[in-house]
Formats: sequence, structure tokens, C-alpha cells
Amino acid sequence: MTRVMTKWIAAMAVLAAMAGTSAPMAYAAPPAPAAPAPAEGVAPNGVTIPPGFRDWKLVTVAREEGKNDDIRAILGNDVAIRAMQLGKYPLPDGTVLARLAWSYSPLEESAAAFGKAQSHVAGHEKNGVQFMVKDSVKYASTGGWGYAEFDSGKPAGNPQACFACHTVVKNRDYVFNRFATVDTGGIGQ
Ligand code: HEC
Repeated sequence: MTRVMTKWIAAMAVLAAMAGTSAPMAYAAPPAPAAPAPAEGVAPNGVTIPPGFRDWKLVTVAREEGKNDDIRAILGNDVAIRAMQLGKYPLPDGTVLARLAWSYSPLEESAAAFGKAQSHVAGHEKNGVQFMVKDSVKYASTGGWGYAEFDSGKPAGNPQACFACHTVVKNRDYVFNRFATVDTGGIGQ
């Protein structure tokens, strides 16, 4: 008889013995139903963290002062890039914009490089990751955009508050940033 079979038979014997016991089993009351935890990577309005978004193309960069105090990159999916390069507003359904942010941190080595502290670079991740998803039907109540923020993957932020502020640029389809061009005389792009 193999060792595995011996173990199996022993386990069955223990189970059989347990089934035969007449002592009442301790019974724990089921826990009260808790409010469902927000699913990671999915906001209540249905906006999800798009797979592969970190590889999307760069729309532009931005720097926030004040409470946010960060440096950020705006990325766009292919639909976003095509439309924003042409400056075609309103942006089409299927457009997705991502806003990533990091602490605006002095680069330690910059003093040695320039003879004075000069460089600031992306430090640690900060202020979550935000998305705007264009679906003029699904998100009609927020100007055709589904807004969502994720902090360490967990949904955060209030889409109505996002929408309220982005209304400042309603004439540019609620998008503040513009596509930043790069001058290579047209070469390589
Ligand atoms: C008080 C105003 C304000 C609020 C609230 C706000 N935003 Fe913005 N948002 C801005 C401004 C200004 C910019 C452009 C500057 C920048 O990129 O930091 C911006 C940029 C963005 C961008 C890049 C595209 C663009 O419009 O330039 C995304 C994506 C974005 N916000 C998503 C969100 C989401 C999601 C929320 C809510 C969780 C939100 N925003 C709340 C003001 C706001």
C-alpha cells in the first residue's frame, strides 16, 4: 500500500469517527450581512481600470500646485490620441483618458549634475489614478463622461464633483488638457 493511500484511509477513518459523534457541534451565528465592499478596479458608475493603460500614449504632462502638489501625466487610448491630435471636439465615444500623478520631488543628483539643485522628477505615486471614459449614452448625466478615481485600486472620488469642476471647459468637451505636440520637423512621428 502506498503512503498516500495509507494517509487517505487514515483521514477517512477520522471523518467517519467525527460523523458518529453525538456531542452537539458548536454553532456560530452567521455574521450580519455587511455592505458590499467596493470591487477593486471597478467604480460604482461602471468605470474600470482599463487593462494595459500604463502603455498608452502620452497626451501631455501637467504640474499641480497647492494641496495636490504633484507632477502628472495624461495618457490616452488610441481613440483619444487620434481625436486629440486633430483637436476634434467633442471627442468620440470610446475615448479614454488616464491621469497619473507622482510627488514633485527634487532629484538628489541634480546638484552634482548642474552645480545647483535644479531638477524635479516624479517621486512616489500620489493622488490616485483618474480616468475619464467617453460614452455619451451611458454617462449622459455627467456630460457624456464616466469619471472615476482609484486609490491603490479602490474606487474613490465622487463623479458628480469631477463633472462639476470639468464643466469649466464644457466647450472643449470637458477636457482641460490639450495634446502636446513634439517638434521634430515632422520626422519620426
Ligand atoms: C476642482 C476641479 C477639478 C475636480 C474636482 C476634478 N478635476 Fe480633473 N482636472 C482638473 C483640471 C484643472 C485638470 C487639468 C490640469 C491637470 O491635468 O492637472 C484636470 C484633468 C483631468 C484629467 C485629464 C484630462 C483633462 O481634462 O485634462 C482627468 C482624466 C481628470 N481630470 C479626471 C478627474 C476625475 C476622475 C475627477 C474626480 C474624481 C476629477 N478629475 C476631478 C480639475 C478638476
